[in-house]
This record gives sequence, C-alpha cells and structure tokens, in this order.
Amino acid sequence: MPLKIFLSDRLVDEADAKVSVFDHGLLYGDGVFEGIRVYGGKVFLHDEHIERLYESARAIRLVIPMEAAALKKAVEETVAANSLSDGYIRLVVTRGAGSLGLDIRKTSNPQVIIIADTITMYPPETYTNGMKLVTASTIRNHPGALSPRIKSLNYLNNIMARIEGTDAGMVEALMLNHKGEVAECTGDNIFIIKNGVLLTPPKDAGILEGITRNAVMRLAREAGYPVKEEPLTRHDLYVADECFLTGTAAEVVAVVSLDGRPIGTGKPGPITNDLLKRFQELTKKGGF
Ligand SMILES: Cc1ncc(COP(=O)(O)O)c(C=O)c1O
Repeated sequence: MPLKIFLSDRLVDEADAKVSVFDHGLLYGDGVFEGIRVYGGKVFLHDEHIERLYESARAIRLVIPMEAAALKKAVEETVAANSLSDGYIRLVVTRGAGSLGLDIRKTSNPQVIIIADTITMYPPETYTNGMKLVTASTIRNHPGALSPRIKSLNYLNNIMARIEGTDAGMVEALMLNHKGEVAECTGDNIFIIKNGVLLTPPKDAGILEGITRNAVMRLAREAGYPVKEEPLTRHDLYVADECFLTGTAAEVVAVVSLDGRPIGTGKPGPITNDLLKRFQELTKKGGF
C-alpha cells in the first residue's frame, strides 16, 4: 500500500509528495528533523521529540510554520492515516525553496514533511549477541562549527564515519570529539558500565542529546543504578564491564567489542540486559 505523507499542510499520496529542487534542505542540508518511534499505535515520547525539533530549528533560525500542538496533531494523523501500529516516523522541516545562494532571506515556505513507515534496524542476533564497533577517524562536528546538539539535515560527518564502520564490516562506528574524547556513535548515544555505575559522555561532549539516552538514564536511576555524565576516553571503553548504545531506531543494544578489544566478558552484560528489558516495558507502557 502506498503511504500517505504529510506535506506542509495536508496528507498526500506518496507519489505526490514532492518538494522543489530549489529547496535549501536539498541544496544545502538546511533544515532539521526527528526520528520518532510508534509503539502500539502511540507516538513514543512525542513531546520530547517535538521540543527538540523546535530547539534545533531555533538554533538555525528556522521558523517552523506550525504551532507545536498542530504539528503534534499532524504527526498523529499521519500515523492513523497509514494504520501504523509499530513503526518509525521521519519528521522533517526544510528551509524551503530559495535562490541558488546561501541567503535565507531569499527562501520561503519551509516544508514540513511527515513520513510514517516501518523500520528494521539491526538483525535480531545483534540484540542477542551484541555488536562490535570500531573507532572512526572522522570526528563529530566541532561545536564551534555546528553544534552537534542540533539535529540538522546535514549528517555528512556521521555518514563519513559510518562508511568507515561499514568498511570494517560493522553496523555502527564510534565517533570521538575534537578533544579526542568519546562522543557518540553515528546515530546512537553510548554508555558504559563500570563497577555498577552507568557512565555516558555529557551534553557538551559533542553529542546529540538523545531522547532514548535521557529515558534510559531515568530508567536506570529509578532502578537504583548510579548514573554519571562525564567525559570518557576510548581507554574507559576498553576497560569497561559493559557497554551499550541507545537511539530511537536502535533502542538499546549491547556493544561487545571496540577496536578488536572485547568489552567485559565479550557478551551483553547483565545491567545492559536489565535496562533493555526495562526499556521494552516502557515502550509497551507508552512512556513514563
Ligand atoms: C548522532 C545521533 N546521536 C544520537 C542519536 C540518538 O538520539 P535519540 O535517542 O533521540 O534517537 C541519534 C538519533 O537520533 C543521532 O542521530
């Protein structure tokens, strides 16, 4: 069945969901987006995603041509129009069509695009056996150039890093920041567990402040695990007891080796598995 796509102000057939070749989202990657999950027909952590979208837009001086409440409703309508029970939403706002130059004053009509579809992230065995990672030589965006906190349409540095992972036969890659500290993976945040404590790079370590990251930190605290946001090096990962990634698409997935060094026992650890279970319960419940 062809999808119904929300484009600007209404639902259209997939074949009619078209934007201008002059849209700066296409010409310059000028725009923002969110990836959101749907569980049991309900949009998961919807408010958090909408809030981050508006924050990203503010940071790049893009005015989203809809109020947050109307946008939320449009997302829900798109999910319903596609009878989506479990799936993935891509919410995109482009700068709109403009001239062949960078001047945003010459653009108009930012495009709001909502795609509600299904997604298969990693094969099931990745969730049972964990994944292996390599460190990419491509670093995360320098915050002085473009804040990694902005979820912009410009993902080239992550794509370059992901190619390095693919070349090494892996489905993800670790990215460092400009200081050589651990930042995150190309589409996921990273956690380690050392002596029962969860550790993850802080917001200013050159990361996207993941919504799954925040949810998992809350679940961990509620379960009584201490959680610390602090700068991490690759050495911390090499000597960690456990490691896992979080992301809307990936959910919670164990990491069992980095750069050829097994992490902990080389198998998904007990705290990772416990948090995965708690996260799955949260998705069934539809949120906190
Ligand atoms: C670079 C990057 N880091 C982390 C994440 C995880 O964030 P979230 O949990 O909000 O999906 C994503 C995915 O959105 C991402 O693209």
